[in-house]
Amino acid sequence: MTEGGLFITFEGTDGSGKTTQLRRLGERLRAAGLPVLETVEPGGTPIGQQIRRILLDNANQELDRRAEMLLYFASRAQNVHQWILPHLAKGGVVLCDRFTDSTLAYQGGGRGLGDETVLTLHRIACGTLQPDITIYLDIDLEAGLARAKAGRDKLDRMDAQSLEFHRSVRATYLRLAAAEPARFRVIDAAPAADIVEQAIWSVIEPALETAHVR
Ligand code: TMP
Repeated sequence: MTEGGLFITFEGTDGSGKTTQLRRLGERLRAAGLPVLETVEPGGTPIGQQIRRILLDNANQELDRRAEMLLYFASRAQNVHQWILPHLAKGGVVLCDRFTDSTLAYQGGGRGLGDETVLTLHRIACGTLQPDITIYLDIDLEAGLARAKAGRDKLDRMDAQSLEFHRSVRATYLRLAAAEPARFRVIDAAPAADIVEQAIWSVIEPALETAHVR
């Protein structure tokens, strides 16, 4: 557990519906009177937004996988120090759409850079900060990519990776979830959004009782 506040991250492959679910949880928590910060990686802060544009721009096909990993961590370091830690220190709840587990899955797994490199950078960028709870929304790859495509005219640089890449991302997530069952909650993302929302709430509600949130 973080010393103060409650740090909840959302993870999943593209099209798992995590952004919708994060917003729904944010609404519930605010309705319960809790101070909530909703943020996203990469992105979050204004500086992070500029880094996000580089990362997702389809024109940047030559981006080296190590440079890519460092950019994800640059965005994260800014978010952790500018927004996340100060909000947790005040006893608030932070909901973060993706965090270091994404880098473990996409760069460590998908790009083959491995866990150790990613975890070393995590310590530099984020110190000892770890999520209290990670909601992993699991979805079949084809169904997820079809959802990700719906409503968008073109895929971003990451969505457009091979099926093999996305397969390795999902396999890494499932390995991470199995290794840390107390933190990771695997939720089936295939059912309708209301059902998924209820499943997430049944994980979060009891955690609020024991967390130091105010
Ligand atoms: P989003 O579309 O969920 O906001 O995420 C942007 C893309 O960036 C998504 O395809 C996953 C990818 N990503 C990584 O490859 N590594 C990371 O560390 C993060 C946070 C995201």
